[in-house]
Order: sequence, then C-alpha cells, then structure tokens
Amino acid sequence: MTKLVSTLAMLAACSAAGAAGGRGAAPDARSIERGRYILKITGCNDCHTPHYAARAGDVPESQWLTGDRLGYRGPWGTTYAPNLRLVLTQLSEDQWVQKARTLQTRPPMPWFALRQMNENDLRAMHRFAVHLGPAGTPAPPYVPPGRDVKPPYIQWPMAATAAPK
Ligand code: HEC
Repeated sequence: MTKLVSTLAMLAACSAAGAAGGRGAAPDARSIERGRYILKITGCNDCHTPHYAARAGDVPESQWLTGDRLGYRGPWGTTYAPNLRLVLTQLSEDQWVQKARTLQTRPPMPWFALRQMNENDLRAMHRFAVHLGPAGTPAPPYVPPGRDVKPPYIQWPMAATAAPK
C-alpha cells in the first residue's frame, strides 16, 4: 500500500512538471536557459543587438535584442532591426508563435529561417525575452526606396533581388 501511494505521488509530481512545461505555463528555468541558448546560436543578436557581431558576442545580456540604428539599404529601401524586447514582451507566447510562423519582412531579416523554428524553441525564445523584460527604445522606422537616409547604414548592391510584396 505504501508503495502504491508513493507511486501515485510520483505520477502526480510528473504530470505537474509536464503541465508546467506546457502551453501558457509560467516561465521555468529550463526553457529560459533553452531560449538563451537558441539566441546564442541562431544569429538574431547579430542584427537585433547593437554591436553584437562586431564585438564577437561580447555584449551584456541586458542589452540583447534591443534593436539597432544601423540601416540596411537596398532595392527594398532602408530597414532597421526592430527592438525585439519591446515586440516580444507585448505578445503572448501563442501570439508570438503565430507571428513567427507567418512573418514575412523585407531583407535582410531571415524570416524564412524563423518560420522553420520548432514550436518549443519559439516558446523558449519568448520565455527568455519575457525573463529579460522590456528595454530600450524602438528602432528607426522603415524608409522607402529613393529617400535619403542618415548614416550609419550598410549599402547592399542595388541589383539584389527585390523585396517580397
Ligand atoms: C541579418 C540581420 C537580421 C537577423 C540575423 C535577424 N533579423 Fe529579425 N529583422 C531584421 C530587420 C532588418 C528587420 C526589419 C525588416 C523590415 O523592416 O521589413 C527584422 C524584423 C524582425 C521581426 C519583425 C518585428 C516586428 O516589428 O514585427 C522579428 C519578429 C524578427 N526580426 C525576429 C528575428 C529573430 C527571432 C531572429 C533570429 C532567429 C532574427 N530576427 C534575425 C534583421 C535581422
């Protein structure tokens, strides 16, 4: 009997842990750590965190994903990597998954790569962003083609493929 009771207690503990890792659950240490790892390896910081690529990733976590004033100028106009700390913290986890699954932007954002990310990884990324919390200010707005922009910007070859409609 004691054995049965302790087995039941164990099962209850397991299903509670399972529920905690499921949809809409409070952020837990494991998925936050997974989110940190995903951001380190998928390159989002290269564009969405100021100076990240130039400093070989040596930027404090508190500044991660705060967006950048560096423009990307090409046939599509000039784009700026938005502040994802503000974008992600304003979305629920489900809204973020939906957005990432359907996102299509101008270059050089690799939206086609983000669409391939599995749901658990997207959720982990959101939990990590919520764990860091909102920070910074919005990046400059998109500038259409043919308009002058102030430096700093990277000029892409004007013969590059046109932006998606
Ligand atoms: C090569 C640079 C680059 C990389 C790498 C990159 N992004 Fe972006 N991202 C951008 C730019 C530039 C835009 C703005 C595009 C536009 O204005 O159409 C953008 C836009 C976005 C948006 C739309 C935000 C909004 O305001 O709706 C999301 C979400 C996003 N990026 C997430 C990510 C994630 C997650 C990663 C990593 C998997 C990533 N990005 C990697 C440059 C980049």
